[in-house]
Amino acid sequence: MAEPLPIAVLVSGTGTNLQALLDTVHGHEAQVVAVASSVAGAPALQRADARDVPTAVFARGDYADRDARDAALGDWLQQRGARLIVLAGYMELLGGAFLARFPSPVINVHPSLLPAFPGIGAIAQALQYGVHVFGVTVHFVDDGVDTGPVIAQRAVELPGARDERDVLAALRPLEHALLADAVRSFARGELEIDPADPRRPGPRDRL
Ligand code: GRF
Repeated sequence: MAEPLPIAVLVSGTGTNLQALLDTVHGHEAQVVAVASSVAGAPALQRADARDVPTAVFARGDYADRDARDAALGDWLQQRGARLIVLAGYMELLGGAFLARFPSPVINVHPSLLPAFPGIGAIAQALQYGVHVFGVTVHFVDDGVDTGPVIAQRAVELPGARDERDVLAALRPLEHALLADAVRSFARGELEIDPADPRRPGPRDRL
């Protein structure tokens, strides 16, 4: 098998998506070489510690502005040698300078069928709207809010849903599977952006 792809995971909270990566692709197709949190004491950091993955905290309040935070974060991720950056419940926006700096792409998991319900509170937005079909999206990150090219989506019908916790419970396993699949595909070189058709990343013919 090819060398595992070094990846970094950015978190802010519970870290169930990080855990899914640690339980599936870590040590196989990918190696989680860094976990960075925007929140000190986030439970996700303990999940990384338990697998001896190096962690660091880059809290917005510790820096003069977002650009300074992004620069420090970027330096650390570069030192760790990450070649794919995975946002897994990372509750901060990354500036255009951060995205431009890395040749390695950034991907994100979002708990809605984008472009519906971008931004924070996606499940609450969907419940408020009264949708019957919920879902999750894994996408490349650009400098908009949840606007980058879609990598994969999965839907679930929950016509009777009224409670955010019930929807979250139904979406969690979908997120975990989809994110691990996306990392696997990327590690295998099956997820490239074609400049001629940038909204549809996928395997490209190689000469
Ligand atoms: C997930 O629902 C993800 O879609 C969103 O933030 C949540 C993170 O959950 N971006 P966890 O910290 O991975 O458990």
